Amino acid sequence: MNRQTQVSEVQSPTGSGLDRLPLPPPGEVHLWWTSLQVSCTARLHLERMLDVEERRRAQSFYFPHHRTSFVVAHATLRLLLGRYLSIAPQDVVFAYGVHGKPALAESLRAPRLRFNMSHSAGLACYAIGADGEVGVDVEQVRPVDVLDIAPQFFSATEVALLRSLPAEPRRQRFFLLWTALEAVLKATGGGLTMDPRQIGLESQSKPMVATVADGGQVSRWAVQRLDLVPDYRAALATEGRAKRLRYLGRPPVPTADLDRRQ
Ligand SMILES: CC(C)(COP(=O)(O)OP(=O)(O)OC[C@H]1O[C@@H](n2cnc3c(N)ncnc32)[C@H](O)[C@@H]1OP(=O)(O)O)[C@@H](O)C(=O)NCCC(=O)NCCS
Repeated sequence: MNRQTQVSEVQSPTGSGLDRLPLPPPGEVHLWWTSLQVSCTARLHLERMLDVEERRRAQSFYFPHHRTSFVVAHATLRLLLGRYLSIAPQDVVFAYGVHGKPALAESLRAPRLRFNMSHSAGLACYAIGADGEVGVDVEQVRPVDVLDIAPQFFSATEVALLRSLPAEPRRQRFFLLWTALEAVLKATGGGLTMDPRQIGLESQSKPMVATVADGGQVSRWAVQRLDLVPDYRAALATEGRAKRLRYLGRPPVPTADLDRRQ
């Protein structure tokens, strides 16, 4: 994985885990990402960090590799948030928005901390901010019928641009636009319940700017392309202005948990 900054593994004075991670300062977003492939033993260990509902969802997957990905993605989120809050992963409590966007429960008294997670084909990505809502989307770049899908989601100008490109740049641009759109849908919390045509995406500006018209309300989001690992495309949407990005790589977890990863 590229652009990875090593985060030192400092044991806490209590010996029970790792030191607290400071919240990102205003204007900054922390980005973490990890592979979702672990051994069976590691999965069982990580599964114990999940709550009843997460375990129920994990069990509902038909294919074992989907179950493993779900467990690792959710346990890693708990490990990460636990580090910011100085609590055990099992003690992280979530609250959910109307359309399912996870947030921290009020009981944890961390009103500024915002996060969002995305996973695709064995990779999970986490955005952590303390300065307004965040939404992140990661997708493996894979074969898709771009010209069939694009008109349903993107403006006529974007579709014309996609049509004019050779196959590979077209596919790359499609995933850039797709992750940008999904990151905005996820930042607002509306997800796929929203009509993507409610989003006006200025994709030529840097950062990209998205305007969302929802009922009588209009909101503006900055959308930044993320460079995490080859063959995946990712984007981050943040409330208001673009943020400084801090690429942190694999979340720091206690050595015992790391040892169990592949
Ligand atoms: C959120 C949504 C856009 C996810 O898109 P995706 O590309 O398939 O998945 P991603 O990997 O990028 O993101 C999934 C994660 O986003 C988070 N998430 C879930 N709902 C969310 C929402 N409304 N807004 C932002 N983030 C959300 C969760 O952490 C989720 O992880 P999980 O599915 O393992 O619990 C899509 O699932 C959605 O629109 N859901 C809401 C509407 C819906 O279908 N609700 C059904 C239940 S009422």
